[in-house]
Amino acid sequence: MENGKHLILLGAPGAGKGTQASYLKESWNLTHISTGDILRGQVRAGSELGVEAQGYMERGELVPDDLIIRMMEVKLAELGAQGYILDGFPRTVAQAEALDATMAKIGHQIDAVVNLEVEDTELIRRLTGRRVCTNCNAVYHVDTMKSVVEGICDKCGTALIQRKDDQIDAITNRLEVYKEQTQPLIEYYSVRGKLLTVDGTIGVTQVGEAIAAGLSKKG
Ligand code: AP5
Repeated sequence: MENGKHLILLGAPGAGKGTQASYLKESWNLTHISTGDILRGQVRAGSELGVEAQGYMERGELVPDDLIIRMMEVKLAELGAQGYILDGFPRTVAQAEALDATMAKIGHQIDAVVNLEVEDTELIRRLTGRRVCTNCNAVYHVDTMKSVVEGICDKCGTALIQRKDDQIDAITNRLEVYKEQTQPLIEYYSVRGKLLTVDGTIGVTQVGEAIAAGLSKKG
């Protein structure tokens, strides 16, 4: 696949969307757009959007569609003709329809939707052990993806934290919300011939290789 493509990473919380986006953006020279990272940045900055989004995020609920759709329309307009990976958007059928409409307006289309499949017990293990860098958004795991110096980001030296929504109550809620509101997108993109489903439980490198192979086949 050449540069300038538009990809979506779909999958439950903890499926590895952020981890694989880091891998894909290097290999395919794409910009990584994570709605979760943008929203957390807005919360830290104390912006109007951040203040509105914070409660939803900490409880593990979705931020309302109208706020997200407006935020993403601005972001996509800024990106122009650049290729990108959308991580965490769309997350509802209404968001997917809004994305289709925005892309049609600017004459672009989604090339492929990568769906990472991981079962709930593994998702819970991953999320409860995840640590993140608030500066560069790098992702670690206390058992299986440790930083060289415990609690410090390898890439930028910032202290690592545990996200508030990585507590078990919020995780349980996020998994339910995913099944109700986001899983229908698998069918949405499958009937449009865009879906590439990958086993997300194999090692990080192997998942990346499986995605790259699938995308190359799709052309
Ligand atoms: P967001 O930040 O997007 O959270 P999420 O979708 O729940 O996804 P995560 O970031 O938790 O997981 P991930 O799939 O990226 O996994 P990761 O690579 O980190 O959204 C947060 C909140 O923002 C939402 O709950 C909502 O409130 C709001 N929001 C965002 N977008 C929205 C939208 N469009 N509409 C409405 N609201 C929105 O990996 C997880 C862990 O697993 C890591 O520790 C990693 O090291 C490990 N790992 C990864 N891959 C592997 C592997 N292959 N093997 C072993 N371990 C692995």
